Amino acid sequence: MTLTSSVVAEVIGGDQGDSPRPPPCAIVIFGATGDLTGRKLGPALYNLMVDGLLPEPSVIIGVAREAMTSEEFANKMLRKVSEHSRREIEPAQWERFAAKLDYIVGDFTQPDTFERLGARLAAADARGCRANRLFYFATPPSVFPTIIEQLATHKLIARLAPDASGPACRVIVEKPFGRDLATARSLNDLIAGYLDESQIFRIDHYLGKETVQNILVLRFGNSIFEPLWNRNHIDHVEITAAESIGIEGRGAFYEATGVVRDVIQNHLLQVLALIAMEVPASFAPDDIRDEKIQVLRSIRRLKPEDVAANAVRGQYRGYRTEHGVAPDSNTATYAAMRVMIDDWRWQGVPFFLRAGKSLAERVTEVAIHFKSVPLVLFKHESAGEALQHAVLTLRIQPEEGISLRFVAKVPGDRIAVGNVLMTMTYADAFKRPISEAYERLLLDGMRGDATLYTRRDSVDRAWQLMDPIIHAWDAAPGVPEYEPGSAGPAAADELIARDGDTWRPLGT
Ligand code: BG6
Repeated sequence: MTLTSSVVAEVIGGDQGDSPRPPPCAIVIFGATGDLTGRKLGPALYNLMVDGLLPEPSVIIGVAREAMTSEEFANKMLRKVSEHSRREIEPAQWERFAAKLDYIVGDFTQPDTFERLGARLAAADARGCRANRLFYFATPPSVFPTIIEQLATHKLIARLAPDASGPACRVIVEKPFGRDLATARSLNDLIAGYLDESQIFRIDHYLGKETVQNILVLRFGNSIFEPLWNRNHIDHVEITAAESIGIEGRGAFYEATGVVRDVIQNHLLQVLALIAMEVPASFAPDDIRDEKIQVLRSIRRLKPEDVAANAVRGQYRGYRTEHGVAPDSNTATYAAMRVMIDDWRWQGVPFFLRAGKSLAERVTEVAIHFKSVPLVLFKHESAGEALQHAVLTLRIQPEEGISLRFVAKVPGDRIAVGNVLMTMTYADAFKRPISEAYERLLLDGMRGDATLYTRRDSVDRAWQLMDPIIHAWDAAPGVPEYEPGSAGPAAADELIARDGDTWRPLGT
């Protein structure tokens, strides 16, 4: 039995202060009529403007193949932003936002698209954007090379000067960054042929989530956790990204991607790196990214013959009848894996990762399971109820917060122990809405701060780790099915049971 107690944290200090508005800038979105722009980028840019964080002046130029006027584009954005924005649309604010929107119909393979884009960018410069440019690649990855080559041919991008002078010119590249190590490397080489690494922003929106950023503050801003954060005190770590939704009409994308490329190679490995990394020298972008890559380098790479014992997959029943999915699809919509980090801090501590679609609950969390106490002292008192080990849970979403499960004496005239739960939620503690990850990331892109973006070496290493699993699964068709609304395939339970552990039930 676990008793629950909710703790309302009182926040003392911690005022954010004024965030500096980035310098004037033109934002160009390739793939402007797509799902990502409507659900995430449009709402993020609108909310940034309302919060006074969008540059002044700034223009937002959408580029896509769908024929429409700039006015029709603005109307489409209004519908999408109204649907997905974290705050209601205010007509006066929307008018201000719509005045920034512009649209270009065009095929990315056609030079004329980029000639017209060049003319609009020149007009934006004349309005005060000072040739500062942020290009967002919100298209399928297959088109990235064409866009970057066209931008270079038309001299719309320029490598940063050695003394870093001159206008800002940056590209934000959506994930998945490549399909495997080889394609990621060739895409990295291609972009590096035109731009400096400091101009390349590889987005992983998990890094923009407040709760993910809080991992480092929790670990390094409190003296009570760090001394315990190692193999001497931690038994195992669970990292879960469970979604209750299916693939939501993204059949063609998902068929080519699958769960490992979609969320594990990027989101989950990035969260793992933040949980496992050493103390950085400072919060400067490269100090943090240097420590994260050390973790990824220390992760044991699976040999083909080890994949079956350390990684399992599943596909939700009904996936094969989704639009855009092959009737004999071998794509995994669920994966669980046991990851070992061969370094001094974590030697021998398994990290269990799981992610999937169409599961019982939507929950993303990290659970740190501490070692059990020696049972000698409690062998009689705990009879009837197993004395459970302490668990610190970092709830990334929803109901963002942190909870600690530990044992306490059950009131009464004898020593009896029960498990209790102490919980802090962001909603109670901070009493203010949490910004969307894309807001923070777009803002950082405009400011040129790459701390929350992934560096080339970390993308490479993540593929090195995932490629053996992807290849083994591609070579062995026959992905097992699981029931939609369940906790995933039975094989995942067997995987964790081999270490004597069980997954946390979804949603608790
Ligand atoms: C995206 C994936 O990167 O992350 C989606 O492509 C997934 O398939 C999404 O649904 C989950 O993001 P969030 O922020 O809702 O956890």
